[in-house]
Amino acid sequence: MRVKDRDFEVFISKEEIEKIVKGLAQRIGKDYEDRNPLFVVMLNGSFVFAADFLRSLDFVADVAFVRYSSYVGMNTVGVASCDIVIPEHVKGRNVIVVEDIVDSGVTMAQFMKDIKSLNPESVALMTLLFKPDSLRENVKVDYVGKAIENRFVVGYGLDYDGLGRNLDAIYVVKE
Ligand code: IMP
Ligand code: MG
Repeated sequence: MRVKDRDFEVFISKEEIEKIVKGLAQRIGKDYEDRNPLFVVMLNGSFVFAADFLRSLDFVADVAFVRYSSYVGMNTVGVASCDIVIPEHVKGRNVIVVEDIVDSGVTMAQFMKDIKSLNPESVALMTLLFKPDSLRENVKVDYVGKAIENRFVVGYGLDYDGLGRNLDAIYVVKE
C-alpha cells in the first residue's frame, strides 16, 4: 500500500482490530456501566476507533470531542499545540479519554494535566495503540488495545501527513 512517498504493509488486520475494540468495550462496560462516564474523543486520529468503540458499548453514553496535536510527518515535534476545545461539563464526571495512539506521551501528558484541572471525578486514559518503547513522558495508560513496537503506522484513523485515515486496517511503514 502506497501512502504519499512510502510503502506500507498490513500490520493489524480488520478482524484483529474488531476483536481489540470489542475487548476494550467489554472492559469499559464492566468498569463504567453504572458511573455515567463521559467519553472525550481526541480528534482527528481517534475518530474511526471512537465510532466503532462507542457503538460496541451496550449502555447509553455521553460523548465529547477535543482536538490537540503534536505530530508533524513521522516525527513528534515535542510540543502539543493548543487547538483544544475542552467541554465545560467535565466537572464531577468520570472521564474516559479516547486516544488512537500513545507514542512519546507528550500529547497525553499535557492533555491529562489540562483535563484534570477541570475537576472531573476521575480520568482514565484509553488508547487503541501504545508504543511503550517510545514513551518519554510520565503518562499512565489505563486501557491499552494493543502495545506495538516503535514503528510508524497508518490507517483506521491514523494518518501519514494527512493521508490514509480511511484505510480499514492498520498498516506499518516498510523499512
Ligand atoms: P505523542 O504525543 O508522541 O504520544 O503522539 C501522539 C499523537 O501522535 C497521536 O495521537 C497520533 O496522532 C500521532 N502518532 C503517534 N504515532 C503515530 C504513528 O505511528 N502513526 C500515525 N500517527 C502517530
Ligand atoms: Mg492523535
